[in-house]
Amino acid sequence: MSAKSCLALAIILYFCLLQCFAASGSTRKAKIIPCKTLVFYFHDILYNGHNARNATAVIVGAPAWGNRTILAGQFHFGNLVVFDDPITLDNNLHSTPVGRAQGFYMYDSKEIFTAWLGFSFVFNSTKHKGSIHFAGADPVLNKTKDISVIGGTGDFFMTRGVATIMTDAFEGTVYFRLRVEINLYECW
Ligand SMILES: *[C@@H]1O[C@H](CO)[C@@H](O)[C@H](O)[C@H]1NC(C)=O
Ligand SMILES: *[C@@H]1O[C@H](CO)[C@@H](O)[C@H](O)[C@H]1NC(C)=O
Ligand SMILES: *[C@@H]1O[C@H](CO)[C@@H](O)[C@H](O)[C@H]1NC(C)=O
Ligand SMILES: *[C@@H]1O[C@H](CO)[C@@H](O)[C@H](O)[C@H]1NC(C)=O
Repeated sequence: MSAKSCLALAIILYFCLLQCFAASGSTRKAKIIPCKTLVFYFHDILYNGHNARNATAVIVGAPAWGNRTILAGQFHFGNLVVFDDPITLDNNLHSTPVGRAQGFYMYDSKEIFTAWLGFSFVFNSTKHKGSIHFAGADPVLNKTKDISVIGGTGDFFMTRGVATIMTDAFEGTVYFRLRVEINLYECW
């Protein structure tokens, strides 16, 4: 092998290695693209003492200084809410639901509004069958909140990803509507 081709080979090898390190470094994260993106809305009507027929969410836990009718003071710390909310494809509460968002949120700070969310989307429509499971910390006042998609069944068998939640509307303390963009990074 001539000295010239040896040098050329060395240069090629050098750039190959460079590529290798770049791929395993921090630039890798930015390149991940979702295998599926879905957008839904869900509607939460919190029981307030007067809307038992209509409510889709109830306070089931309160600190000793509170009660289960009205969320407690001090940023609702210690309140646990269980919900069974309709999921719709658009932002209309009265649209035909494609499934239910079922789970809970608990307020977990006395200093600021934060909650911890654990719930599932249970689908029963012609388009989607199965479930997607969500868990994570919710910085309530943040414009968007990212929570983890930790698994799924049926159409969403073994899925994982991140869901970005946005408050789409709220009326007092009784009604709020969330827009959820689900980005799945593992699809089977
Ligand atoms: C139920 O609650 C929502 C939100 O508070 C309200 O807009 C609606 O008129 C209520 N009644 C029915 C029958 O949906
Ligand atoms: C529940 O607590 C709220 C204040 O946090 C109070 O206004 C309300 O009267 C209480 N309701 C009951 C049924 O104790
Ligand atoms: C899903 O919908 C079908 C048809 O409407 C119904 O037979 C079935 O019981 C539903 N399943 C659940 C879990 O709601
Ligand atoms: C808070 O909101 C910002 C901007 O909307 C977003 O970039 C950030 O990821 C959010 N933080 C969390 C913890 O979701």
